[in-house]
Amino acid sequence: MSTVHNFQPKIIGIICNWCCYGGADLCGVSRFQYPPHIRLIRVMCSARVDMLHILRALTNGQDGIFIGGCHLCDCHYVTNGNFNAYSMVQVFRKILKHIGIYPERLRIEWVSAGEGIRFANFMNEYSSELIKMGPIGKAEGMDKATLAFKLEAVKNIIPYVKLVITQRLHVSERTEDAYHKFFSSDEFERLFNELILDKLVKSQITLLLQKKNLSTSEIATTLGLSPSEVAKHMNDSSKQGLVRFDVKSKNYAIA
Ligand code: FES
Repeated sequence: MSTVHNFQPKIIGIICNWCCYGGADLCGVSRFQYPPHIRLIRVMCSARVDMLHILRALTNGQDGIFIGGCHLCDCHYVTNGNFNAYSMVQVFRKILKHIGIYPERLRIEWVSAGEGIRFANFMNEYSSELIKMGPIGKAEGMDKATLAFKLEAVKNIIPYVKLVITQRLHVSERTEDAYHKFFSSDEFERLFNELILDKLVKSQITLLLQKKNLSTSEIATTLGLSPSEVAKHMNDSSKQGLVRFDVKSKNYAIA
């Protein structure tokens, strides 16, 4: 991470009406200071934040997205929606890491309506962290086109990722401990690699092939993968009838 001189990060804070928004309000009334470059959006529950909202914000050049909700188990809805928001953020941060974007750009915290100072502290800390990190894309050594390409590849698998979260990454006990334990476990790592990472790579390959036909080594170089990894994915995709291999040009194309 490098500090960019005079850089003011663009930050979107999506915060729940019942707790975090109250905390932000109290923060203002109490005159606690926090950086002015944070724009707040009020939603009824942190569970209302969709992965597509995050992608859209990042695609539009936001450097950070902060999600604020009620403390775990204090959500005002019977479904305890903040656990869903927590799961979504853990998965999305992992996806960001795999496409080469600092996962810390996405943050989730719990703030009650009586914790104005806690809200200010998070905002100050998060803003300083993003300033040290630098602008999205540039800090990661990516040009605009590459960043857009990576985010589009993620967008294309969002419906699938949502399904994986609800069907395969389900934590049976709605407690903070159980969620922390699961999302820091090897089991989560294994399921992520098996179910999501594979789709993410295939999504990037499909996007590349939509632009032009490419050989295994060209795909490998563009995506920073080994030729054998690409060959494995191409094999699977060929079997599923998604791509075809042109023997004459030795290139892959969309089927
Ligand atoms: Fe605040 Fe659900 S109402 S997180």
